[in-house]
Amino acid sequence: MGSYFSSFFRRKDVDHLFREMHAGERLNRRLGAVSLMALGIGATIGTGLYVQTGLVANRLAGPSIVLSLLLAAVGCGFAALCYSELASMVPVAGSAYTYAYATLGELVAWIIGWDLILEYALGSSAVAAGWSNYFDDVLRHTLGIAIDPRLQAAPWEFDVESKAFTLKQVLMPDGQMAQAWFNLPAIAITAIITVILVIGIRESAGVNAAVVVLNVGVILTVIGLGVWYINPDNYHPFLHEKHGWRGVPEGAGKMFFAYIGFDSISTNAEEARRPQRDLPIGIMGALFICTILYIGAAAVLTGVLPYQQIDVKAPMAAALHARGLTFAGTLVSLGVLAGMTSSLLVGNLSQPRILLAMSRDGLLPRGLFAAIHPRFRTPWKSTILVGVFVALGASLAPLEFLADLVSIGTLFAFVVVSAAVWIMRVTNPGATRPFRVPWIPFVSTMGIAINGSMIYFLGPDNWIRLLVWLVIGLVIYFGYSRRHSNLRARSSEASGTG
Ligand code: ALA
Repeated sequence: MGSYFSSFFRRKDVDHLFREMHAGERLNRRLGAVSLMALGIGATIGTGLYVQTGLVANRLAGPSIVLSLLLAAVGCGFAALCYSELASMVPVAGSAYTYAYATLGELVAWIIGWDLILEYALGSSAVAAGWSNYFDDVLRHTLGIAIDPRLQAAPWEFDVESKAFTLKQVLMPDGQMAQAWFNLPAIAITAIITVILVIGIRESAGVNAAVVVLNVGVILTVIGLGVWYINPDNYHPFLHEKHGWRGVPEGAGKMFFAYIGFDSISTNAEEARRPQRDLPIGIMGALFICTILYIGAAAVLTGVLPYQQIDVKAPMAAALHARGLTFAGTLVSLGVLAGMTSSLLVGNLSQPRILLAMSRDGLLPRGLFAAIHPRFRTPWKSTILVGVFVALGASLAPLEFLADLVSIGTLFAFVVVSAAVWIMRVTNPGATRPFRVPWIPFVSTMGIAINGSMIYFLGPDNWIRLLVWLVIGLVIYFGYSRRHSNLRARSSEASGTG
């Protein structure tokens, strides 16, 4: 009985991880610090900034959304420091999952790996859904083409304030309302991204870097232009009239979605040239740049319009249009598309690599998740599988619903990573730490407390959804993974019971 329970806590040792890195089919090491930072920024800027900002400012936080963004960034910052230490110690594919396996044991690692599917795959679904809104906007304003509204939305919707689900009705060109079917542009963009990723990371990292430069340039243009149209009266009242101070942490929980992605750099550790140096620089740099851009963009948005008038679907473009900046508005829509595309690229790039790490450990079937394409050297089968999952989510579920689920899943992973770095210091004090977080346990405690409080403010509905997801994961763990684990096989051999 004792060994049954202790098996949940069997851990991979760090030396073993390093040995694994030098054996078998590995991915190519070709990403430097700047490429990694670009990957992080590319994954991070997207629907969160371009859609959620409007929704949260309008419905929950008003101009105090800048505080929500700051709070979410501080939570990410503490977690990012912890990520950096662990990523530099354990620079193999897998992110928080691998760190948890080396520190907290197999069961927690499984829970985290399973939970990361929410972050990456479902996160990509939310981004693809947001992409579709802006794609329609660009088509309309540049080519005058309108897609059938029934093919642009999930069949149901979710109200952020009342938290109620209803069937989604869309306005048809003839003025009648009709039931929405599914989101076709979201499926199309996911299919294109999947093909690029199957072909290879070199190509996708190059495409991503170009898109990031364009995207950051567009945000800076928006800030630079919008600043001249700020009316200081719009900052009064600073808090949302209905939600007051509570709007700040609630808004932080929802805006947290906007920061998701910078940590995905760590999932590419295996492809980093000098992981010990480049990972911390990439992770902290990407987070810092995104924070500055977000706070600047949100301050401009809430300064240009009274928060009650901020658009909830395409807020940045709509704010510029409202001030007569038509050309800039269209430019923004194009930039938004570019930003979301790069966000999708990295989300869909990272997920198969987490699954790869889990299957190498025997927790998922290797034949499917560890298959590396002989010519492209990419985990092609799981990339395609992830593409199908992302497309299903994006085409059938509403964005607000997806975003909250993704946020709570990621916050949970951040709490575990913050705890893991502290636990590792106690259980493995002598390990080499190329990047060492200062002030442990203070940093870990803050990471746990701030990210934990955002989980709290996301409310009971989201706690329950996260719980349901985790229970499904546990069923798979006990049904398959526990019995197929490599560590189990090794410990059985060692004890002669194999
Ligand atoms: N942070 C990503 C976005 O905002 C998920 O789109």
